[in-house]
Amino acid sequence: MANQDEDRLLEHDYDGIQEYDNPMPRWWLWIFYATILFVPFYYVAPGFMGEGPGMIAAYEADVAAHTAALPPQPAAMDDATLLAVLADADELKEGGEVFTKNCAACHRADGGGLIGPNLTDAAWIHGGAPSAIYQTISAGVLAKGMPAWDRILKPDELKEVAAYVMSLKGTNPPSPKAPEGVVDTTTAAPSVGK
Ligand code: HEC
Repeated sequence: MANQDEDRLLEHDYDGIQEYDNPMPRWWLWIFYATILFVPFYYVAPGFMGEGPGMIAAYEADVAAHTAALPPQPAAMDDATLLAVLADADELKEGGEVFTKNCAACHRADGGGLIGPNLTDAAWIHGGAPSAIYQTISAGVLAKGMPAWDRILKPDELKEVAAYVMSLKGTNPPSPKAPEGVVDTTTAAPSVGK
């Protein structure tokens, strides 16, 4: 077989140059034919040529499965917990210290607003309920320059500073920044909630 073909000169003569017949090895050819036979199956395979879920859907399904397998996110803070912190003078004082250290640069020491909005008025861009304030502080508004503080502050500090922000409401500091967002009357008063 292979030996028969070996050193068999082809009849062509290219300006005095001749060549041997070197056929492809059988095993190579069989693999080649197999790929041709495979084409119809591949063609109708799900995800190919617009049939079936496709790569993006498969990716999204993988991501969804992965997300579902992650440990649950810490539950959103409830209003009652934050109102309890607000009612605790010591914790509120701690919150004030956290605020002076981390937040005053953008929101002004008295919360009247500078780069960040006024935190003393009744208007809120992201909601004025205690849980909403806590959520904004922990997740931040990265696109607008408000950092996500859950990466930086300890869980207790987060609660305390949220309560401190709640306590700023209605403090009427001098020359405040104009209200931004909508008036949200679920705000931060100790009488709100249970
Ligand atoms: C680098 C500047 C910067 C710092 C530091 C900063 N903030 Fe902000 N903050 C902003 C900006 C800007 C916004 C407005 C986001 C928007 O427009 O959506 C904002 C929004 C907020 C809001 C939402 C206000 C609303 O109307 O809904 C709260 C609450 C808040 N910040 C609290 C804090 C607290 C508490 C800290 C400190 C732990 C802090 N911020 C530190 C820039 C800052």
